[in-house]
Amino acid sequence: MNDLIQQSKEIILSKLNGETPKMAITLGSGLGDLAKSLTDVTVIQYTDLPGFPKPSVEGHSGEMHIGKLNDVSVICLKGRVHLYEGLDKIPNLKVMIRTLKAVGVEILALTNAAGSFRVENPVGTPVMITDHINFQGTNPLIGLNDDEWGPRFPGMDEAWDMDLQNAMRQSAKEADVRIGEGTYLAVMGPTFETPAEINMMKLMGADLVGMSTVAENIIANHCGLRVVGVSAVTNLAAGMSDIELSHDQTLDGAEEAKPKMEALFKQFVKNV
Ligand code: HPA
Repeated sequence: MNDLIQQSKEIILSKLNGETPKMAITLGSGLGDLAKSLTDVTVIQYTDLPGFPKPSVEGHSGEMHIGKLNDVSVICLKGRVHLYEGLDKIPNLKVMIRTLKAVGVEILALTNAAGSFRVENPVGTPVMITDHINFQGTNPLIGLNDDEWGPRFPGMDEAWDMDLQNAMRQSAKEADVRIGEGTYLAVMGPTFETPAEINMMKLMGADLVGMSTVAENIIANHCGLRVVGVSAVTNLAAGMSDIELSHDQTLDGAEEAKPKMEALFKQFVKNV
């Protein structure tokens, strides 16, 4: 795996003109258009990066966009893999995130589409992830530990970096975007939840549910990246509204959040 990381690193470095962006942003379902706000863009297909994942879900292409957001250099990851696509994709996820670290990225910003448990955070609301519950029934670090990247037993008490959370709050104020805050619970999917499952998750202390993000957070924390995250609420969770949940509905909901997510991140890249 480290050979693949080395090869991908060299390809990316050859496109960077000597300036490594401090931050990479993973664009969740329906949020890929943030990459359109970049200027001076270079696009690399994941298929040209050895070991990178090949996403199979509509709304997730598979491209790295390197460019400037609001004059700040960033890497946007357009397209991610989810564990429901197959647990055999986890090694590719590791290659992707560890390559960012190897290139010199320091901060990973994760965005996603999520169901909300709180009526005060309705469709279209960006909600900052303050903590998470890994309810995926697996962990991407299972197996032999590669000590080169991080410890066997990584601590997770600040899985979501406090300073970056403060910067995100400040950015929301400056961009005049109302953001909620909450605990994100990751399920394996691909089914949406039953109302009974949502009731259980509320009792567990979750505010948001989705099928992504936590595996990336774990791999990133393990290798020493600082992580921040924002969910775009695309629906109230199962049983909380009459709207039938579907992937199309997720993409429609993301559309409502898009301008707010964009304003938020344009400010955030300036503030960190
Ligand atoms: N559940 C799980 N994943 C999701 C949801 C949801 O309600 N909305 C968007 N992604």
